Amino acid sequence: MIHVPLNPQRISQALGNGYWRVKVISETTSTQSEIINNFSPLQHGDLLIAEFQNNGRGRLDRKFIAPPMRALLFSTFIKPERAISEWGWLPLIIGLSVAEALSELTGKEFLTKWPNDVLYEGKKVSGILCESSHGGLIAGVGINVNFEKSELPVKNASAINLVTGSEAERELVLAATLGKISENLKIWNESGVNLLADIYLKYSATIGKEVRVELGNGNTISAIAIGLSEFGELKLSNGSAVSIGDVTHLR
Ligand code: BTN
Repeated sequence: MIHVPLNPQRISQALGNGYWRVKVISETTSTQSEIINNFSPLQHGDLLIAEFQNNGRGRLDRKFIAPPMRALLFSTFIKPERAISEWGWLPLIIGLSVAEALSELTGKEFLTKWPNDVLYEGKKVSGILCESSHGGLIAGVGINVNFEKSELPVKNASAINLVTGSEAERELVLAATLGKISENLKIWNESGVNLLADIYLKYSATIGKEVRVELGNGNTISAIAIGLSEFGELKLSNGSAVSIGDVTHLR
């Protein structure tokens, strides 16, 4: 497989409007840390994308690893128009947007694992990390686009090309993803969470499943995932609602 660098002109063409301001760099520690620490002031839609991260960060203090030019690795500043009490929805909106974009681009069924991993047939293709900063949220997205099987970071991972059998153009994957993010942010802003929750449920592999949730404090809950709260928390059949945790699908 030959890996070509991202073409900024092709990105602008594919994006087609001025909503996102994209900067491409070849290497950084982490686009997330770089945008948080070195970009100021930030405006809604500022976006940094790197060909390689030498210290990519995942949720719950994990690493996110991808060889150069295989993945889409970007962080973008979002200034939600909704009340801060609702910002827990943003990680879900980003995961939903990736799942929708990949499903529409490929004709395959990509689903989210709450809150926002994106899976194909149970294997992780994309991970998302959202952090509060600069009075808004920094949404960091990693999507495995064109990987050799041997390059996958863990056994239970996959990539778009391994799902479809052909290489994907990363600029088009980026444009489709950003198009869905802006569309879903608009729905959130204009209609609130009810409509979004309906769309999220269509792309959720978690709701209705028996799950094990590892909570940040070391405790674990096994229960059925029955829905989402008004804050985007995962509602469980034991009566609890979880805002942070690592979900395993049991059945
Ligand atoms: C996870 O799967 O736990 C979340 C992974 C998030 C990875 C992305 S890649 C771009 C951005 N920069 C980072 O260091 N992390 C996010």
